[in-house]
Amino acid sequence: MLILSGKEVSKKIKEELKKEIDSYLAQGLRKPGLTVILVGNDPASQIYVRRKRETAENIGINSICVTLPQNTTEEELVETIKRFNEDENIDGILVQLPLPSHINTHRIIETIRPDKDVDGFHPENVGRLATGIGRGIIPCTPLGIWLMLKHYDIDVFGKDVVVVGASNIVGKPMSLVFLKDERATVTVCHKNTKDLSFHTKKADILVVAVGKPNLITADMVKEGVVVIDVGINRLESGKIVGDVDFENVKEKSYAITPVPGGVGPMTVVSLLVNTLHLYRLRHGFPPHPFAQI
Ligand code: GUN
Repeated sequence: MLILSGKEVSKKIKEELKKEIDSYLAQGLRKPGLTVILVGNDPASQIYVRRKRETAENIGINSICVTLPQNTTEEELVETIKRFNEDENIDGILVQLPLPSHINTHRIIETIRPDKDVDGFHPENVGRLATGIGRGIIPCTPLGIWLMLKHYDIDVFGKDVVVVGASNIVGKPMSLVFLKDERATVTVCHKNTKDLSFHTKKADILVVAVGKPNLITADMVKEGVVVIDVGINRLESGKIVGDVDFENVKEKSYAITPVPGGVGPMTVVSLLVNTLHLYRLRHGFPPHPFAQI
């Protein structure tokens, strides 16, 4: 059984990205620029944003973190985004989700310029991924999972892939990544799925992104499955676990991601990949090879 270490893979990718940035600086180009905007004081979001920022800085990306209070108005947030839309030194803009409920998330996503939409959440980028028309941005978690599968030579061609969770951040774009060029047979399950284990038992590759500890137990998977656990749940004890009963499911798996140390670091490194990708396009360079699927 193979443990898919996002920690190890992301470390290798970060080293490569750092070398790439060093070479741009040696050519006299500016640093890539990333803006991360956080509204409110959700503790989990604060941790994610800090991690994104520190990792970006470590490899030489100029990262600007804007923290706005919980009572920020939608107009104020729109104006903040527009400022960075116009800023020549900024290649990527990320607004951490979820936003406070008085802010219209869809409007905010549509305010970010599609060519600075480092999360790939703008409908233009989602549409490009869905149709294959033009060059879009692949959302960070699906891209990170894709890069990890590639690193471990796990081929998805012709496989039965089951994605549990249909969010715009993970489940939906993940299904589009697997569906691209008709490479896999994709099933997407969600909260209204009648018989979850009927579907999960068929999976050659199972991606779970729901946010419920122990949602997937050993009786719900088949021998030899590849399990990708996107969940990050904090138990009352303080322990961080995924959505999968790791200890028991791993016995039946060909490969499985741990939590923490699996998908999480791959999401962060994909944010850096997408930032560099947008930087390259802005400078008229070819797309970043890691940002393509
Ligand atoms: N909240 C949870 N995951 C993400 C992500 O990938 N991007 C943003 N912007 N917010 C998130």
